[in-house]
Amino acid sequence: MEQVSIVYPMPNDHQNEIDRVNKACYDNCADIWDRFPFPEAIPKFVQKYYTPNLGNNVLDVGSGTGILAKWLLDQGFNVLCLDPSSEMVRRCQEKGLRTQQGSLQDYRSKDQFGMIFAILSLIHIPKTAFSSQIKKLADSLSPGGILFLAMLEGQGEGFFEGQKYPRFLSFYSTDEVKEKIKPFFMQMDYHYAKAGGIGYMLFVLKKP
Ligand SMILES: C[S@@+](CC[C@H](N)C(=O)[O-])C[C@H]1O[C@@H](n2cnc3c(N)ncnc32)[C@H](O)[C@@H]1O
Repeated sequence: MEQVSIVYPMPNDHQNEIDRVNKACYDNCADIWDRFPFPEAIPKFVQKYYTPNLGNNVLDVGSGTGILAKWLLDQGFNVLCLDPSSEMVRRCQEKGLRTQQGSLQDYRSKDQFGMIFAILSLIHIPKTAFSSQIKKLADSLSPGGILFLAMLEGQGEGFFEGQKYPRFLSFYSTDEVKEKIKPFFMQMDYHYAKAGGIGYMLFVLKKP
C-alpha cells in the first residue's frame, strides 16, 4: 500500500513542518488513498463489536477520501469525517459526508461517539504526542465504545520520501502500541497485513 525510503531530520518547529508537509502530500496525491482500508477486516470487526446501545455517532479521524466513512453512512451510522487536507475533505463532501477540516491535535470534541476509526492517521503524529491523542480519543468515546486504530509497523519517526511528496511518519512495534493504549483501552482484536514490505497493524480497542 505505502512505499517509504530516505529519512531526513526533524526541524525545530516540527509540528508546523509536519502539518505543512503532510497536507501538501495529501492535497496533491489523494488518489493513492482512494480505497477501502483493511477490506477483509474492518466490516467483520464492525459486525462483531458494534452494539446498538453505543448509538450511531461515529468519528473517522483522518478520513482520507471517505470510502470507509461512506460505507459506514450506508450502514446507517451518523459519521463525522475529520481531516486536515482540503482535497480529502472535498472528496468526502462530494460523497455527501459531514466533514470538519483540521488535525486531531486541534480537534475539540463536543460529541460522544460509539465508534472511532483512526486508520493510518496517527502515523502522522509525533511519538511524544501519541498518548495525549489516544487519551483524547478515549475521552470522545461513550463507555464501551470501540476504537479502530491502524498503525505502521517499524521503528522511529521522521520525514520520508516515497510518493511524489514526502510525509512525516511514525512507526511502532505491536508491543509499543499495546503499552501506550493500556491506560485507556482493552484490546479486543488484532489484524495484521503486509504490503510493499511494510507491516500494517489494526487494533480493535474497547473503552472500559
Ligand atoms: C494514510 S491516509 C489514510 C486515509 C484513510 N484513513 C484510509 O485509511 O484510507 C492518512 C490521512 O490522515 C490525514 N491526516 C494527516 N495528519 C493528520 C492529523 N494530524 N490528524 C488527523 N488526520 C491527519 C491525512 O490528510 C490523510 O487523509
